[in-house]
This record gives sequence, structure tokens and C-alpha cells, in this order.
Amino acid sequence: MDPVPSEGGHVTQQETPGADEFTDVDDTLARFRDAGYLADDRLATTVFLQTRLGKPVLLEGPAGVGKTQLAESLAEVTGRRLLRLQCYEGQDETKALYEWDYGKQMLYTQILREKINQVVEDAADLNEAVERIARQDSVFFSERFLAPRPLLEAISSEEPVVLLIDEVDRADEALEAVLLELLSEFQISIPEVGTVTARHTPYVVLTSNNTRDLSAALKRRCLHLFLDYPDTRRELDIINSKDTGLAEALAIRLVEIVRGLRELELRKSPSISETIDWARTLAVLGVKDLTADVLSQTLNVVVKYERDLEKAMRAIPSLVDPNAEVPESLGRGHGHGHGHGHGHEHSHDEAEPDGKAVRAAKDNPGRHAAAYGGTKGRSTSGSEGEKAARSVPAGQGSRSFAAGARKRPV
Ligand SMILES: Nc1ncnc2c1ncn2[C@@H]1O[C@H](COP(=O)(O)OP(=O)(O)O)[C@@H](O)[C@H]1O
Ligand SMILES: [Mg+2]
Repeated sequence: MDPVPSEGGHVTQQETPGADEFTDVDDTLARFRDAGYLADDRLATTVFLQTRLGKPVLLEGPAGVGKTQLAESLAEVTGRRLLRLQCYEGQDETKALYEWDYGKQMLYTQILREKINQVVEDAADLNEAVERIARQDSVFFSERFLAPRPLLEAISSEEPVVLLIDEVDRADEALEAVLLELLSEFQISIPEVGTVTARHTPYVVLTSNNTRDLSAALKRRCLHLFLDYPDTRRELDIINSKDTGLAEALAIRLVEIVRGLRELELRKSPSISETIDWARTLAVLGVKDLTADVLSQTLNVVVKYERDLEKAMRAIPSLVDPNAEVPESLGRGHGHGHGHGHGHEHSHDEAEPDGKAVRAAKDNPGRHAAAYGGTKGRSTSGSEGEKAARSVPAGQGSRSFAAGARKRPV
């Protein structure tokens, strides 16, 4: 694609063919800001480079730091259509690429029954009849009967698109292999039809919540950025930009308190969306002062696990006032007897707080279990599966790619 013409460093949006590209990093920052997304320089630089280099962006980081929103805002500011592939474990690649429209094929064969009968009418035996039908295969396995799913839709789109491949860490290796072909060539091979090559390079955004390591091969194909919680200034800007109704002075303190909660290394740290929710909640309650009482009463807006809640409750007084005494009722000994209700073991909570392995095991209990019984390299035991997910062998990427190449020759 042609770069944006940059006479005088200024481009009139939506008028030139390159209107969906950015002039420079500042332009990127400004246009995202106008769309309500406050990026920092690093993120804006990555997005700017992606649009110029035609490379996918891989955003890794904790939940709620604006990874998905970035793709949505990118579509908004570039005027491109957003196509989204939400990844999940056990996802069938046909759901990501394309399916044959079985219903439509059946309908056509019903309507064309007479015609089909003519084809086989004078066949000597069953074998010959099958042969004759098989010769008509290409009629029914043609583009007409193809149902594109997000990846093929992105590649075959007449218009330039943004393709969001969300939470790719939840996908299996098989799907990751399919993605490799797509991300390096921007093409998809359909054995019955041929290779579909992108008319316009899509802006691809992959996100990962870090529940497992992604293959080196996948990372190599992408501009990689770790997106962490924003600094105080930017988080405050984000809160203020959301019209939460909370006075600025209180918002500043609230951001500080949330940052303090993040230090506690909870199983699920509060993220930007939680800070926004908390600000809205406090504004609705008409709170004039952030006291330990009012914060404790509304803490469930930002902390979602019982054990985290206990930990956070204990910390609130000292976060509000570093010299505060911890009330006896919230002190030691309160927690036990609770917190066993999630149906899986918590004994590592303190040891590996909010770590990726912990999230992997807990956010989705059973994710490494049962569904994969029997498949090579997978175990039906949850803890084994978890181990496998933690330690991805270095050669995994190339193996996945090889497997993918075998499956769908170009
Ligand atoms: N940089 C940002 N500017 C504006 N809003 C943001 C930003 N980052 C996060 N948010 C807010 O946080 C919410 C959660 O972000 P999301 O993209 O869903 O997180 P993730 O995909 O990383 O889990 C968004 O809907 C948005 O309201
Ligand atoms: Mg997301």
C-alpha cells in the first residue's frame, strides 16, 4: 500500500486513498485520543509502525489494560471494518477460517435431484455412479458454497479491514499454526478452491492475557508489545476522559489507591476498567471523601475474588491513610474458613500472585484437562496439562508450523 502523502506534514483525513494511515506517531496519538483511547508513545509508535510495515501487532498483558479496545479504536480511527476472532480452547480451525455451507449444498442437491439422477441414470454399477458424482465435486466445493469465517473474511475482503485475533493464548497449537501462514503471507489456501491472497493487507492485532507462552515463530512475525497498567498520569487522564462524574481531586486519590491494590499481588489485580467502574460507583453514591469505610463498602466493584477481597479490605485503611491502625475485625485470622468455594486449590496464591501460571490454572479451571484426552503432548490430568502449558518447548513454533504446512499445502 502506498504511504500517506505528507506534503507539509498534513493529511486531510478520509479524502486521500491513504486516509486510513497515520502521518507520524503524533498523528497516531492524536487520532486515538480523539476516539477516546489514550495511548502512550510506545503504543502509538508500535501502531504507527504496524500500519507502515504491514506487520501484525501482538499485545500481551494483564486483563483490562486496553488491548481489545486498541483494535476497536484502530478500526474506528482508520474507518476500517473490524473483524474479530475470539480464541478459545478446543476451537476448531474451521470456525476461524471457513466452513462448507452444508445446508446450502443439501438444498441445491434436493432441488437438482432430477439433474443429478440424469448423471447417474445409465451408470453400469454403483462404482461408476460414484465416479460420475465425484467428477462433479468442484460444483459443490466452490466459492459459492463457502462460508467464510473471520480469517478468510479478512483476507478476501474487498475493503481494507482491521482483524482482531483476541486472546490468542487461549487457542491451541493447531490454530496457532494456521495463524502463522496467514500472518506471514496474508493468504489462505483452500485445497478445493485455491489460494486466496489479501487484496489489502489487514491491520492485524493479536492480544494475549499471558495464560501461556506463545510460540517464538508467532512472536517473530509480529511487532510485540507488553501492555502493562498505565502510569498514574495516564490512568487519571483515562478516568477523566470517561466522564465518570467523580471530582478530579477524588479521582487522583482513587487512582493512587487502585495502584496500591495492584501492589498487593492479588489473584486478579484491578485494571483500568475496574478503576473506571469504581469512579462511577463512588460518583453515583455522591461520595465527597474517600474514607476507608466507603471504599471498603464498594470494594466488590473492583476486587472479584473472595480471598482478594479479604486481602484488599485489610489494606484499605493503610492505603487511605498510611498511619492508620488496622481495625481488629479486619485483622489476621479473618480469612480462613472462606475462600474455598471456587472449586480448585489455592495453596499457591501467596507464592505466585497474579502470575501467569496462576491465572492459567485459575481463570479457567479445567482448561488443560479432559477436552484433550488422548491427543499427543496433552494430558487428561489438570496439573500435567498445566505444566505443559507453562513450559512451551523452544521448537514448538516450527513444529506447529510444519504441522500446519502439512495439513494445508500451499
Ligand atoms: N488507553 C485507554 N484509553 C481509554 N480507555 C481505556 C484505555 N485502556 C483501557 N481502557 C478502558 O478499559 C476497558 C477495558 O479494556 P479492554 O481493551 O477490554 O482490556 P483488555 O482487552 O486488555 O482486557 C476499555 O473498554 C476501556 O474503557
Ligand atoms: Mg480483551
